[in-house]
Amino acid sequence: MEPFKIKVVEPIAFTTRAERAQALAAAGYNLFNVPASLITIDLLTDSGTSAMSDRQWSGIMLGDESYAGSRNYFDLERVVRRITGYRHVIPTHQGRVAENLLFTTVVKPGDRVPNNIHFDTTRANVEHNLGVPVDCVIDAAYDVTAEHPFKGNLDVAKLERVFAEVGKERVPLVMLTITNNSGGGQPVSLGNARQVSDWCRKHGIPLFFDACRFAENAWFCKQRDSECAAKSVEEIARAFFALGDGCTMSAKKDGLVNIGGFIATNDDDLATRLSNMLILIEGFTTYGGLAGRDLEAIAIGLDEVLDERYLEHRVGQVRRFGEALRAAGVPIVLPVGGHGVYLDARRFLPHIPQHEFPAQALTCALYLEGGVRGVEIGGLMLGKLDEATGAWAWPELELVRLAVPRRVYTDAHLDHVVSVCGQILRQRDAVRGLRIVSRAPVLPHFTARLAPVGAG
Ligand code: F0G
Repeated sequence: MEPFKIKVVEPIAFTTRAERAQALAAAGYNLFNVPASLITIDLLTDSGTSAMSDRQWSGIMLGDESYAGSRNYFDLERVVRRITGYRHVIPTHQGRVAENLLFTTVVKPGDRVPNNIHFDTTRANVEHNLGVPVDCVIDAAYDVTAEHPFKGNLDVAKLERVFAEVGKERVPLVMLTITNNSGGGQPVSLGNARQVSDWCRKHGIPLFFDACRFAENAWFCKQRDSECAAKSVEEIARAFFALGDGCTMSAKKDGLVNIGGFIATNDDDLATRLSNMLILIEGFTTYGGLAGRDLEAIAIGLDEVLDERYLEHRVGQVRRFGEALRAAGVPIVLPVGGHGVYLDARRFLPHIPQHEFPAQALTCALYLEGGVRGVEIGGLMLGKLDEATGAWAWPELELVRLAVPRRVYTDAHLDHVVSVCGQILRQRDAVRGLRIVSRAPVLPHFTARLAPVGAG
């Protein structure tokens, strides 16, 4: 059961099918363009959507809004140092700013940045600095039915290949995303992180964690890895961070807050360069684009997320959601990840070819059928269009992520989603593919507009 009581409630919206059909058309068949007031169950993201605790709200009242040296900064610094062991804690207003700071500081044109799988903002930030992001996850990650316990693991042989191709000078850092969001929220094992760390140290290349969901990753390790079974989640997290040189963090996930992030490292010289850049783009080093009260909420959230009762419920709720979908015959990525369930749109809608965006068509069907909002992680988000030839390179997977916000929905809400998926499955032949009407060159899925194939 939920290890908390509900103290504040927020009504959710109920709409008619006709209203939803109209909203979809007005939104160009892109759920990012649908107002949240027209969404019944919002599983677009687990990012910034957590319910804060009474302790966090009381921390908000303790906000010290001093421009420099806010008390709340030192609270945050203390917690981050305790969990990560990294000395320098540089607050940012969200994760992608941490990425921007890091990559503008260390990536040069033509550099390769390996990761298990880059999240879309990470990839875009590497590319923005004219670097080349390289996904080095193990092959099992691309087999949506393989029940591998650590599908987020990085394949060191693939790292070797990058290294052999371009040499040490062209690999400014290696990243490891825990859990691996774009591969289904799958964990990385401590043993794998150690292997990657050993490799990096052997070659003198820094290792950074993309630590958005570090606590969920540590919980999986405790459940699935005998090496970790007797350790506390905090000890496991610390063991991971000790293998690296720093981390970027979006506190909007495992920080249990609505806004915030940071970058932390033990590298003094890098920290100075990052801080100088921070002052240019975010703000002074003790607030980094946040209010003092936000820093306090993160400091408290980072503590709360390590509560093992919380994690047991959190990861358990997502697992139960996945099991219920599976029982309803819905094809999902296995095993179920930490922060959401990923529907396999290729198997869900086998009649829609990849160039007609099956995963995006499924997100539209979920909304039309039951007011549910998920997010496409497929051709619309990750497809690459060669503007010169008009040719597309498609990603391996066509997924719809149903991300579960933390401490927000009950199992009854998720049951509604399961029944919506079941209904679509029964009438799946009626779901049509989509074509692009307009698309931005960078992070196109946020603003693209589409239309049903065959419609004028
Ligand atoms: N890295 C990972 C693995 C992420 O999942 C995200 C955000 C970021 C970095 C960027 O953090 O949003 O604070 O700038 N993921 C959200 C999601 C948006 O829906 O998965 P941010």
